[in-house]
Amino acid sequence: MAAYEGFAELETQGWSDNTISSGYVTMFSEASDMAIPSIVSQVENSSRVLDLCCGQGNVTEALAKAGHTVTGADFSAKMLSHARRRFPTGDFIEADAQNLPFEEDSFDSVVCSFGLMHVPDQPKALSEIRRVLKPKGQFIMTSWCGPDVSPVFQVFYSSVQEHGDPSVTMPDSPNFHQFANEEMAKSILSDAGFEVEKQEQLDCSWVLDEPGDLAEIFQNGAPRGGYLLSQQPAANNAAIKAAVAEKVRSRFSEGDKWRAPIPASLIVARAN
Ligand SMILES: C[S@@+](CC[C@H](N)C(=O)[O-])C[C@H]1O[C@@H](n2cnc3c(N)ncnc32)[C@H](O)[C@@H]1O
Repeated sequence: MAAYEGFAELETQGWSDNTISSGYVTMFSEASDMAIPSIVSQVENSSRVLDLCCGQGNVTEALAKAGHTVTGADFSAKMLSHARRRFPTGDFIEADAQNLPFEEDSFDSVVCSFGLMHVPDQPKALSEIRRVLKPKGQFIMTSWCGPDVSPVFQVFYSSVQEHGDPSVTMPDSPNFHQFANEEMAKSILSDAGFEVEKQEQLDCSWVLDEPGDLAEIFQNGAPRGGYLLSQQPAANNAAIKAAVAEKVRSRFSEGDKWRAPIPASLIVARAN
């Protein structure tokens, strides 16, 4: 049986779903976009770059505008259609991170912004990244910090734990937040032939018009959040959303809006 088969199916379905893919682009990525300047600033000059798990092409476009020659790759035709609409002159290709259609030594840098945690066989994806990178090439990635650090994930997970139906569980998957943990990231990347040169926290957030907007972002803008909420019986779904809204109201107030902090972790690594 393939690694994390149920999780692989959830991710494949999620990113090909109209609601989730559009919801990611219109809602979730307000926070992801805040990582872009830090990512772009790390890419060495005039590089040939692969933007892996490029989604709607937000990072691809920023890298191209910074003067790099960029190819965006993603396994979701739906996300690529968003990318081609956003950046019509961009070079985009449909490809799975676990099986890349490029020759070895094709790129100076591979960037993967909020992508690797969605991939079931991460060692395979990392070996593909290393294969397509030139010797001593750069690998730059971002991921979301876990609930030990992230106020948003603390609010979301605690509300699901308090009010969710215990029979609703996620399929087995790699730890979603493992790359935000420095020791784990170093060990996984070192096993894959990379040396971590830098790891730092980035301050990403959403500015919400209403406290209820946070649960909406998770239900309709992310495959895992969508699964965890939409599988709940209606009463549990409503109770989780009410708890999330109450925590947003009491913890994240900023003027007449709410700022929900979702810190990210940026890693810059080099192929050995
Ligand atoms: C959270 S989005 C990130 C999009 C964009 N990079 C950003 O920073 O906003 C994750 C993207 O990874 C893609 N993805 C997930 N699993 C993948 C895989 N196995 N191979 C290629 N792309 C994958 C999804 O289709 C989605 O577009």
